[in-house]
Amino acid sequence: MRIAVVGTGYVGLVTGTCFSEVGIDVTCIDIDTTKIENLKKGILPIYEPGLEEMVLRNTQKERLSFSTDLASSIQGCDAAFIAVGTPPGEDGSADLKYVLAVARAIGHHMNDYLVVVTKSTVPVGTAQKVRQAIEEELAARGADIPFDVASNPEFLKEGAAIEDFLKPDRIVVGVASEKAEDVMTKLYKPFLMNGHPLIFMDIPSAEMTKYAANAMLATKISFMNDIANLCEIMGADVNMVRRGIGSDARIGNKFIYPGIGYGGSCFPKDVKALIRTAGENGYEMRVLKSVEEVNEHQKSVLFNKISAHFNGNLAGKTFAIWGLSFKPKTDDMREAPSLVIIKKLLEQGAQVKAYDPVAMEEAKHSLGDTIQYGKDEYETLIDADALLLVTEWPEFRSPNFTVASKLMKDKVVFDGRNIYDAKDLNEKGFTYYGIGVKQPVSELNATV
Ligand code: UDX
Repeated sequence: MRIAVVGTGYVGLVTGTCFSEVGIDVTCIDIDTTKIENLKKGILPIYEPGLEEMVLRNTQKERLSFSTDLASSIQGCDAAFIAVGTPPGEDGSADLKYVLAVARAIGHHMNDYLVVVTKSTVPVGTAQKVRQAIEEELAARGADIPFDVASNPEFLKEGAAIEDFLKPDRIVVGVASEKAEDVMTKLYKPFLMNGHPLIFMDIPSAEMTKYAANAMLATKISFMNDIANLCEIMGADVNMVRRGIGSDARIGNKFIYPGIGYGGSCFPKDVKALIRTAGENGYEMRVLKSVEEVNEHQKSVLFNKISAHFNGNLAGKTFAIWGLSFKPKTDDMREAPSLVIIKKLLEQGAQVKAYDPVAMEEAKHSLGDTIQYGKDEYETLIDADALLLVTEWPEFRSPNFTVASKLMKDKVVFDGRNIYDAKDLNEKGFTYYGIGVKQPVSELNATV
């Protein structure tokens, strides 16, 4: 089998590399010459655990290559995956210009039957537009070449993308012909060893599945954040409640961790997009609108606790921040709650010293020198008035609080991910604030 993957961003690169890993001949294509030249040298545009080694291995075995030349790369392919960006346009909806430009280029250059697969997260109805764009290009050339379109949403989690691709919970493919189904079955067969299903459906249902999955997960998180805030007011502990409800198999124990709001490139964008699609078609997504509202509020919860603790006097105070990326094991800063917290602290005249194991370079693009960056987590604590745990990187899970207490000016911890034990920290002389855990009596009602 031979495929082309157009777009060497996060999704395209992981997809192309993982297909090559099982022996499929893959060319990854991008219009960005520098990116392609770097990839040929093994320099990746993103950080994802295990990806660099896999790229190198498969490039050496000559089943993974990189090119800027779409015209020649798609010849002889069974399928071409479109995995280019769909940035929010001026009105917030996904801008399809890159997707449709690729579709046009494919239509312009293809010489043989091809399944054209949309892999980027695109609104319901996009595959139809891709089909039209290809048909127009073929007609303009006077060419009569058969092709199919398919929709194959990705469910990759940043930081675990390779595992997710190689051992998927399910693979969803929307098709409109048996021939396309046959090609997609052959491509995905090597990934079905764990017995999980390859689910075929019609194209609009596949496009909708992606949004419904992300919207459901975002809903679980916002629901738990709401419950956490109420727990705090009522003197309950959300960690207990979470375990209590998570053991019910109908609810499940995953994705019910309260925190400082969801971020990243998918949930915020996809929730917005689904609300918009519904609105444009005369329907209101009432639950999702609240999911979004709760998430916006949640990004301020940690700041509100800080402000309440210091009676609103944050000017001149120094805060150590552990973790900047929107979640661990990624350098992705898109929609990271850390940015909201830092902005609010700086507005109040506070100083921030942050450390993140991989996201500091990325963070500098938006934060520049408005904050200081530590060489490790302990350095940020020197003379700090409080520690803010923002991203639950594994290396922050069990720090030496005895060392920390000697470095800090004041022993206060604001734990945005509930990774520390309140009792343990209290015993070490720290004041501890979590999300939805019991607060000092004086703070009740004042912080959520
Ligand atoms: C998500 C989906 O999981 C994935 O299937 C889809 O393809 C893309 O979007 P990703 O954005 O990489 O993946 O991150 P994920 O691990 O799902 O976390 C998203 C956000 O939710 C993070 O900000 C995380 O901190 C937050 N989260 C997650 C919680 O606050 N609580 C939880 O219990 C789980």
